[in-house]
Amino acid sequence: MPTFAVTTRLPRPALDLLAAAGELRETEAGKLEREQLLAHVAGADAVLTQLGDRVDGELLDAAGPQLRCVCNVAVGVDNIDLEAAAARGVAVAHTPGVLDDATADLALGLILAATRRLGEGERLIRSGQPWAWGMDFMLGRGLRGKRLGVVGLGAIGSRVAERARALGMTIAYTNRNEAPAAVTAPLQARRLGLGELLASADVITLHCPLSAETRHLIGAAELAAMKPTATLVNTARGPVVDEAALVVALREGEIASAGLDVFEHEPEVHPGLLELENVVLVPHLGSATVETRMAMAELAARNALAAVAGEPLPTPVVG
Ligand code: DGY
Repeated sequence: MPTFAVTTRLPRPALDLLAAAGELRETEAGKLEREQLLAHVAGADAVLTQLGDRVDGELLDAAGPQLRCVCNVAVGVDNIDLEAAAARGVAVAHTPGVLDDATADLALGLILAATRRLGEGERLIRSGQPWAWGMDFMLGRGLRGKRLGVVGLGAIGSRVAERARALGMTIAYTNRNEAPAAVTAPLQARRLGLGELLASADVITLHCPLSAETRHLIGAAELAAMKPTATLVNTARGPVVDEAALVVALREGEIASAGLDVFEHEPEVHPGLLELENVVLVPHLGSATVETRMAMAELAARNALAAVAGEPLPTPVVG
């Protein structure tokens, strides 16, 4: 009978799927401390991990040689040492597809919140300070006719672009490769180099995975290249942006505003960001809807079931 070790609380339907096929090792913790995590995975045939679990050689060895698969309950796999897994013959699966709309909705929410100063307005009202409608009171910037610059026009980036089109924005993107015409044609999306995209976009939204190549992709020079009226939104991974450089850019007015769902040293947030009015901060909520979390957990469970049955994984990490 296979053993499934689940390292975070998951919705019951996913746990039931696993329990029906083997021994289920659950936890009530949102996140296990390192030593608990290593002990928790020992002897498992498949582990279902969350994005805060560091899956490296030490953890894979702690699990043992019977381990078949690491199933991340996330689309991003920057917490997993893929080479260490491959070296041990351990497959890795993730949860693409099921969280695209939820994350795109959140990105759109951040775009609107940052450009229309919603966080600032809310803070003003809650502070109890007097305020009154005025022609020049708390003006933001409109989106119709403005350019959305998408860094990574993949499954999530293209959904953000769809939403932005509905608001009257034009779309440009940067990608390592040309995105398929089936994606770009309805969006009328133009591919640009990163430099041109940064210099010309009114809103930049990040949708690239975190890798050695994308760490600090947006640093001081890139922020300086953006329009002073521009907004930067990050729902990808915190370290894609140099947070210290972003604080300076927002403080000095090099860019107008930002919306962040992810942070460089998550869950820590750069103290400089906390002092700024022109940044909207939310705690990694991209996929946080009831429906999406159910779907992510079920997909991770189906990957684990396939792995222990020796069947092809529904959504393996290819790479
Ligand atoms: C992911 O799946 O990588 C997301 O960041 C989770 O919200």
